[in-house]
Amino acid sequence: MKERVIIEPRRDGPRFFTRVSQIPTELEAPTGTVNDALGRPLHDLRISVTDRCNFRCVYCMPKEIFGRDFEFLPKQMLLTFDEITRVARVAAAHGVEKLRLTGGEPLLRVGIEELIAQLRELRTPDGRPLDLALTTNGSALAKKAQALKDAGLNRVTVSLDSLDDATFRAINDIDFPVQRVLHGIEVADAVGLGPVKINMVVKKGANDHDIVPMARHFKDTGHILRFIEFMDVGTTNGWKMGEVVPSAEVIRRINAEMPLEEVAPNYTGEVSARWRYADGGGEVGVISSVTQAFCGTCSRVRLSTEGKLFTCLFATNGHDLRALMRGGCTDDELSTVLAHLWRARGDRYSEQRSEEMATRSTRPKGSGPKRIEMSYIGG
Ligand code: GTP
Ligand code: 5AD
Ligand code: SF4
Ligand code: SF4
Repeated sequence: MKERVIIEPRRDGPRFFTRVSQIPTELEAPTGTVNDALGRPLHDLRISVTDRCNFRCVYCMPKEIFGRDFEFLPKQMLLTFDEITRVARVAAAHGVEKLRLTGGEPLLRVGIEELIAQLRELRTPDGRPLDLALTTNGSALAKKAQALKDAGLNRVTVSLDSLDDATFRAINDIDFPVQRVLHGIEVADAVGLGPVKINMVVKKGANDHDIVPMARHFKDTGHILRFIEFMDVGTTNGWKMGEVVPSAEVIRRINAEMPLEEVAPNYTGEVSARWRYADGGGEVGVISSVTQAFCGTCSRVRLSTEGKLFTCLFATNGHDLRALMRGGCTDDELSTVLAHLWRARGDRYSEQRSEEMATRSTRPKGSGPKRIEMSYIGG
């Protein structure tokens, strides 16, 4: 498939290449499944609905870069709800069964409930509703949980890196109290958005002392705490291998106090490895994209706030679906483009990083200065 490549003059962030696909002359009907160049099916669409966030987590949107002068996307550049739903409908026809709304902070997008209600209407080719999840920092969850549930959201994942108020305020860097996030989690659970998953990014020296207290706190609550290895995503978080606490170490520390047993994954390609407390106290997970890359089963595609499709979290360029849609493409054309993009996909960044770091302790080629930020694509 032919592409025009546009080099965008970009706000404060890194320059991106934008690829605008030329619509193939031969259109094809979706078959319900499409595999990429490495045989991986398309299963999961992650949709970033805003590039803004009210937090300034030091590892994600450091204030020095995302300060007062940082230019976020103007409204006309965002995909509309109809445009998002259109992409999701086409993706569902190709086998996507799970939609995850992310940000920035997705609850900052005005009218998010309306988008959820629209996405709720979508079906898989055999008539099932899609799994609809949302990742949030939890700051507005207590206020919004009921409306999200009523609109048709299935479940939420809350990012929470520490229980210790001082540590949490230092990480979010806007002095946001941990108690409000904890309350949000309880409200979400109470309105039926559970089991609530809690994502803790572990960074050595910053919050690793909280691993066991977090495990203890969420044990026996029905919530599922997951520990995420600090990743070298983007270019602004100053990542160093020495700041990664390997998942094996996380499990070792918890197991020493509260014995754990490994559990089989819920589905092929699940990002998190599952463990349960031997005494029946529930489940925890570890996400090891640094020490045990999971690209082999990666079935995730990401849609940015402005409508670019990224086939990897570590991609340096996206494919501009907004340009196609606003240029008047038909659903068949959009569907054909999506199938072509997925079939051409050979991304396996985390695996390559592991392979190259084993020998050279540097990042792989192509991981240079232009990679997308987590706050832009939402993880
Ligand atoms: P469910 O199984 O649907 O609950 O969600 P999930 O396991 O996909 O988890 P979630 O979306 O909460 O992702 C958790 C974290 O895993 C993200 O914030 C990222 O840090 C990391 N992650 C998720 N997907 C990828 C991926 O494709 N590549 C890499 N390298 N990391 C990922
Ligand atoms: N490594 C791992 N996870 C990260 N997140 C943000 N930055 C990183 C990183 N460098 C996570 C957040 C949240 C999700 C959106 O992405 O904690 O759970
Ligand atoms: Fe923190 Fe998530 Fe906001 Fe990034 S997007 S600053 S991780 S709350
Ligand atoms: Fe998927 Fe890219 Fe993450 Fe590998 S690094 S799991 S290919 S998103």
